[in-house]
Amino acid sequence: MKILIAQLLNQLVLSQCVIAQYRYQIIQIFILRSMSVSKVQKLFFRFSYYKNLDLTSPYPSFQARDMTTTHTMHYITKPPCDPKIMTFGAFHTDHMLEIDWTEKMGWSRPQIIPFKSFSIHPFAACLHYAIECFEGAKAYKGPNKTIRTFRLDCNMYRMKQSAKRLSLPDFDGAELQKCIEGLLKVDQDWIPDRPGFSCYIRPTIIATEEALGVRASSRAKLFVVLCPVGPYFPSGLKPVRVFCNTTTIRSAPGGVGGYKVAGNYAPTVMPLKEVQQIGFHQNLWMLPDGLVQEMGVCNLFFFWKNKQGERELVTPQLDGTILPGIVRDSLLELTRDMKQFKVIEKKVYIQEVIEAISEGRMIEMFGSGTAVSIQPIEAIGYNDKIYEVKYDPKLNAGELSHQLFDMITEIQTGNKPHKWINVV
Ligand SMILES: *Cc1c(COP(=O)(O)O)cnc(C)c1O
Ligand SMILES: *[C@@H]1O[C@H](CO)[C@@H](O)[C@H](O)[C@H]1NC(C)=O
Ligand SMILES: *[C@@H]1O[C@H](CO)[C@@H](O)[C@H](O)[C@H]1NC(C)=O
Repeated sequence: MKILIAQLLNQLVLSQCVIAQYRYQIIQIFILRSMSVSKVQKLFFRFSYYKNLDLTSPYPSFQARDMTTTHTMHYITKPPCDPKIMTFGAFHTDHMLEIDWTEKMGWSRPQIIPFKSFSIHPFAACLHYAIECFEGAKAYKGPNKTIRTFRLDCNMYRMKQSAKRLSLPDFDGAELQKCIEGLLKVDQDWIPDRPGFSCYIRPTIIATEEALGVRASSRAKLFVVLCPVGPYFPSGLKPVRVFCNTTTIRSAPGGVGGYKVAGNYAPTVMPLKEVQQIGFHQNLWMLPDGLVQEMGVCNLFFFWKNKQGERELVTPQLDGTILPGIVRDSLLELTRDMKQFKVIEKKVYIQEVIEAISEGRMIEMFGSGTAVSIQPIEAIGYNDKIYEVKYDPKLNAGELSHQLFDMITEIQTGNKPHKWINVV
């Protein structure tokens, strides 16, 4: 009975959140007073990150209709559509988007300009304290050369959260999306129309205050650059080996692991180099108590049989230490709609993962992210042992990861309309 009431209360609170964010905060305070911490956290995690995208800004934002375009006089020669040459982040397009902000004047007009290097003051805050956040999205060429963006509104929403966390200026996400789609139109010949190819979109905000104090910046620059990219692995899907270093962590409770802020990434390059030197491809991140978080810059999924023999797709819950991936969110929705097995967001411990592999219950493991889409995992290195999971050598992936990869690729590059696709 008590449980039932608690569940009803949860439902009530959740529907209230949907109605108004401020009311959610009031209820949150009420709940905080009346419930134990673990219950409050449970309530939090069931609140889907991308369910209600509020892209508005309480401050005056730049507007897409004010955008000006200066076309380049020197068009760059495009690289060939060869996956070995068109690697991730190697080539930029002809133009970029730039919008400046100052505390006094607010946002400037958005400008599409020829791609250029910045001249930056050596005191600029972003250079010293990583007051900087970014996003990663993709645009695809559909049939008849249409430009298709995939859930760009979710990227806009997430970027607003990151900016707020760093006291960078807020903006209207729908307006930024329109500006980015305008940039994609200007550079549309750069979006490859071959299967597996796409155009990576990198929006960034940097703090440009010219003073060395650690504080909220009074100046900022928002810019967006594009790069044509080939498939992450030229030969299609390719399983990776991940290593679990029990002493190095990526993010901790109360920290900023849940935001795409630049400071999260610099400390990961040395551990990456270290695991690569011992024959692994990526780090599997977890907390000292074994709470599994992510793999490299991907979210994690485990497809296993639980101890009752039921098939479950499990992914770590959004506890603030994990990046709320848009591909993660998409896979959860797609697999829930399949209704073939349980789909669960929960706390996952490395001990459970190892146990499932050892007992032969692990069916598949994979990561998800915009750059790779789906990344099958073939082995986990943990405590001096390597735990391997079989995969279909013909598919170079498990059956489910292969199926999900095809489903998401079809949505992105196929010719069907879809609620996640905006045709520019
Ligand atoms: C960007 C990112 C992801 C993946 O997010 P998507 O929106 O799915 O691309 C996962 N983990 C980390 C740490 C990231 O930075
Ligand atoms: C492509 O354009 C042609 C001519 O406008 C049209 O007949 C065809 O249906 C279009 N194809 C798709 C997939 O939209
Ligand atoms: C874990 O990382 C630390 C620091 O990066 C390194 O010194 C240590 O050797 C690593 N542990 C293992 C088991 O590789």
